[in-house]
Order: sequence, then structure tokens, then C-alpha cells
Amino acid sequence: MRPILVIGANGMLGRDLVETLHSTFRINQNLNWDVIGWDIEDIDIRKESETVAKIERLQPNVVVNVAAYTDVDGCELLEEKAFAINAEGMKHVTLGALKCHSKVVYLSTDYIFDGEKKEPYLEEDPPHPLNAYGHSKWKGEQYVQELAKDALIIRTQWLYGKYGKNFVTSILRQATEKKVLSIVNDQIGSPTYTIDLSKIICALIQQNASGVFHVANSDLCTWYTFGQAILKFSGVSGVKVIPISSKESGRPAPRPSYSVLSTKKLKQETGMSLRPWHEAIKDYLQTLG
Ligand SMILES: NC(=O)c1ccc[n+]([C@@H]2O[C@H](COP(=O)([O-])OP(=O)(O)OC[C@H]3O[C@@H](n4cnc5c(N)ncnc54)[C@H](OP(=O)(O)O)[C@@H]3O)[C@@H](O)[C@H]2O)c1
Repeated sequence: MRPILVIGANGMLGRDLVETLHSTFRINQNLNWDVIGWDIEDIDIRKESETVAKIERLQPNVVVNVAAYTDVDGCELLEEKAFAINAEGMKHVTLGALKCHSKVVYLSTDYIFDGEKKEPYLEEDPPHPLNAYGHSKWKGEQYVQELAKDALIIRTQWLYGKYGKNFVTSILRQATEKKVLSIVNDQIGSPTYTIDLSKIICALIQQNASGVFHVANSDLCTWYTFGQAILKFSGVSGVKVIPISSKESGRPAPRPSYSVLSTKKLKQETGMSLRPWHEAIKDYLQTLG
């Protein structure tokens, strides 16, 4: 039995994805797959020969790479590191997968777009990243598309999940420390729950889907309105939320002002769609207790 390999398995999405793949396997034993999760202590994707050799030795049927340098502001300051992991690392993973004719799955981002469009981005819209993180992920996509013709590229956005530091936990922590929170109100997107995303990744693998797909929870908001919803749904009161501009936030990396991803293609080609973000966040908040 050739396994499914998930690289980046200790990350926020990686942990939920490995669990979702395992439970799908348990429910449907006919799928005949096993799941192996590797992270930096098992494989450093910056190292080409090590990465290629380790993947070749395992002979996976599918390689899903969710390993990345995801600190967007960190990428701006350490651009070389961003490209070494997000672009060259993905190239090495793809080369390893090609050696054993494995399906390649790459997770990419809304930050490959510049936000000028003002209506949901389609898969075929031309990328124009504004920051180093977006550039490095777009380069990663290009390597995959050049090298592995039947690869699956999934672009997603604004992730939160139980296994990682994220916007939701950051807002809830700040609400215990301060009476006033300032949150950016000039970036629009769709917060996406890692559990909902993992289920779709799992289904796309089962369908042997190829090409680029946008996957995100439906409906849109700004970080400010998302922050307000988090506090309201958590029953937090007595904290004032003030809308600020991206400029006022003083973050090093520029971000698109509008990066909503259209999921029409997902619906049309697979029949799948994701629930609105305000439903998903309620489920997530319940897991926090
Ligand atoms: N988070 C978001 O909002 C978001 C939005 C759009 C797309 N995505 C994409 O979705 C995927 C998953 O994101 P995430 O937020 O779950 O990421 P994450 O929590 O930062 O997890 C990434 C994992 O990759 C590992 N890693 C880093 N460098 C590595 C290397 N050289 N070799 C092997 N493993 C390495 C990390 O280990 P360390 O922790 O030890 O560094 C971490 O366990 C990424 O491809 C990301 O670009 C994320």
C-alpha cells in the first residue's frame, strides 16, 4: 500500500489534515491508503538531495506539502528564507514526488494577488503579489506547474484552527489584556477554518483532482468585522474595538486590500462548497471551551 505523505504535519493545517485523512480512511477502508506525517525534524525541504531521497525511499502515492514559512511579516524581513522554504522547498518536494510518480498537492495563498480587482479572484486571474511571502508562494506554484503537469494547487486564505497561533486566539488573548483593541478595517477576505479546508483537500485527493482550485469559507469580512464577531460569539463584553487602516497598523509587509477567492470552480467541477465563515467560527470557538 503506497501512503499519502503530508509534509508540514505539525503545523496548524497539517495536524487537522492528517487527522481528517486518517478518519476518512477509518470510515472507508476501501480507500486503501495510509497516512504519514513529516515535519522539519523528519525532512528539511530546503535540502534538495535529502528531500528527494527521503520521498523516493517512502514511495508515496500522494505528496501534500503544507510546510511553509508562513510568518508574512517575517518573510518580508527574511526574504531569502521565504524563498528557500516556500519556493525552492516546494521544487525539491516536487522533484522527489516525480521520482516515484506521486501526485503532488501544494497549498498556496490569496496573497499571490494584489487586491486591485474588487470582486472575487478566479483561478485564472493573473497573480501579482505585493509582499515577499506572496512572491515566494507564487514561485512555488510556478515550479509545481512547470514540473508536475497533473498536480493539484489549492489556494486558500485567512486560516485559523485549533493547532496554531492565529488571529482568533490572538484577539481572545488581547481581550484579556486590554480594554481597547485596534483592528485593521481595510483588508477584505474570507476567514477559513482548517477543519473545513481539510475535508475539501481530502475529497479533492479522493477525486484525483488536478489544476488550481480556490478553497475558502464563503462570505467576506474585514479583520475588524471578524474581530467583532469573535468577541460577540465568545460572549466577551467590555472591550472596545477600533477600526484602523493597514498603514496605522505599521506591519512591515503590505497586504492586498481585497483578496476574496471565488470558489465557483470548486462548486461547478466537484459539487462541493464551504459554509459561511460566521458558522465555521462558532464551531471553532466551541472547541476552545
Ligand atoms: N495560515 C494562513 O492563514 C494561510 C493562508 C493561506 C495559505 N496558507 C498555506 O497553507 C499551508 C499551511 O499553513 P499553516 O498556517 O498551517 O502553516 P504553519 O502552521 O506555519 O505550519 C507549517 C509547518 O511547516 C514546517 N516547516 C517550516 N519550514 C520547514 C522546512 N524547511 N521543512 C519542513 N517543514 C518545515 C513548520 O515547522 P516550524 O513551525 O518548526 O517552522 C510548521 O510545522 C502553507 O502552505 C501556507 O502557505 C496559510
